[in-house]
Amino acid sequence: MNPRHFLTLLDLTSEELKQIINRATELKAMRNRGEVHEPLTNKVMAMIFEKSSTRTRVSFEAGMAQLGGHAMFLSSRDTQLGRGEPVEDSARVISSMVDVVMIRTFSHDIIETFAKYSKVPVINALTDDYHPCQLLADMQCFFEHRGDIQGKTVTWIGDGNNMCQSYINAAVLLDFNLHIACPEGFDPDATLVAENQDRVTIFRDPAKAVKGSHLIVTDVWASMGQEDEQETRLKRFDGYQVNTALMDLADSDAIFMHCLPAHRGEEVSHDMMEDPRSVVFDEAENRLHAQKALLEFLLVK
Ligand code: CP
Ligand code: NVA
Repeated sequence: MNPRHFLTLLDLTSEELKQIINRATELKAMRNRGEVHEPLTNKVMAMIFEKSSTRTRVSFEAGMAQLGGHAMFLSSRDTQLGRGEPVEDSARVISSMVDVVMIRTFSHDIIETFAKYSKVPVINALTDDYHPCQLLADMQCFFEHRGDIQGKTVTWIGDGNNMCQSYINAAVLLDFNLHIACPEGFDPDATLVAENQDRVTIFRDPAKAVKGSHLIVTDVWASMGQEDEQETRLKRFDGYQVNTALMDLADSDAIFMHCLPAHRGEEVSHDMMEDPRSVVFDEAENRLHAQKALLEFLLVK
């Protein structure tokens, strides 16, 4: 039987996504009570990183240990992947020895190819196109702070990047409206927007976009792999910073999220990061709980 993969949020049904979010909150409470819960004894996860990471590595490695399993860090710099071994071959070899594989890479095609040849579930830990694990944590965070997100309005400010595109998928599965405020030329994928035009609206003016919104989200203006565009992007995104003045235009109960790492003073002001409306550190902690729920979902029958 083909293994169940998690390459985008759309690999889940709405019900499965809600089930994982609820389970993440249960696992968080269990951990806070000090309960030991080890359904993944003897299970091994390979974690392949072709880009840097703090949260993703720590949360997956800690999460596997807490569930009774083991995680193995593999950098493309010191595996044969970095020396040109075909993805198809690597997938067959690695997946014959472990129970689940997590990959952070560049082109989304790479993870699709890996998954095609893998005998075990493959988890997308960020590609140039999507970051679905982050959305599990973000959605858990919204449910914990404000309850169900169905029918609410979320505003994404900044680059139409991997995070933004995962927000489009989340809007579909959890039935919320998504405003996207980005400069011209930095829109998310046109097909993805067109397919979801009933719930996604593109704005050029962040002040108009945030009006009536219940969640404001942003991310860096230059993602990993775009370092050489940093200077031009700084100019192009002028006026798109999330700060307390912009946040004041949103719904009075609105909260702020950022997947982190943040560039304070660029896409977000220092005082917005520290504002009571900012839930960025709860959001980051939820990476642990949400991914443990995902691992249980994929591996415990
Ligand atoms: N948000 C996130 O994925 O962080 P890292 O790059 O530190 O893993
Ligand atoms: N959009 C960012 C997210 C980092 C977690 C990047 O791809 O670098």
